[in-house]
Amino acid sequence: MFGCIHGDRQAVGQAGGELGRTSNQQIWSGLTAASTTPLSGRRPPIDWYKEGPMRPVGCSSMTIVDRAEMLAEQLVAPLGRRWSHVRAVAARAREVAAAVSGDDVESLVAAAWLHDIGYSEQIGHTRFHPLDGARFLRAHGWPVSVVNLVAHHSGARFEAEERGLSSELAEFPFVDSPVLDALVLADLTTGPGGERLSYDERISEILRRYPEDDPVHRTWVKASPILREAVERAELRIAAASS
Ligand SMILES: [Fe+2]
Repeated sequence: MFGCIHGDRQAVGQAGGELGRTSNQQIWSGLTAASTTPLSGRRPPIDWYKEGPMRPVGCSSMTIVDRAEMLAEQLVAPLGRRWSHVRAVAARAREVAAAVSGDDVESLVAAAWLHDIGYSEQIGHTRFHPLDGARFLRAHGWPVSVVNLVAHHSGARFEAEERGLSSELAEFPFVDSPVLDALVLADLTTGPGGERLSYDERISEILRRYPEDDPVHRTWVKASPILREAVERAELRIAAASS
């Protein structure tokens, strides 16, 4: 999937004896090291983000989606089951891409990869994952369209209100758009382990998982009718695109 990654991995391996590594985390660690220092002085993996997503790091043909997948793997794969969810949401985003204009497909799929990075202990500060993820991406130069989608994915504004974080989330403009609807559809028809669910099944699953006095539970009681409309709008756009 990653255009020229194989070649880059070979170059890193030839330079530093790392050939044969397979995970993106390892690849990125190697690329960062190869672009800055001999491999013997490899930095901690997190440091490559400081290069920013648009800066060439060993592979000029990488897309923003490629980079989003790599960042997501580095931050979310250690979280186990959530990584299965994120991979499935990214796949689902590609499936529902007809709900958005061609220009927005990259943002949609990149945001699908990145939407849950705020759960990573490496970057989480407020423990409100849409805000933590968006702040991290903004600080590292990701496109505003992707940052704002991550900030507002799947009704984050409702949970922000429950948590008293609305003013912090307002750092990121809310844009009620087809691409946000499509991201809602992708996320809320994918279960916590990556399984395909209906919207109703997904909401029921969330409500079961969190006790009634939890902000997440209260959020979904309030948000689910509004997010259902977003899902339905996205589905109508897909139907219209195929007719
Ligand atoms: Fe998600």
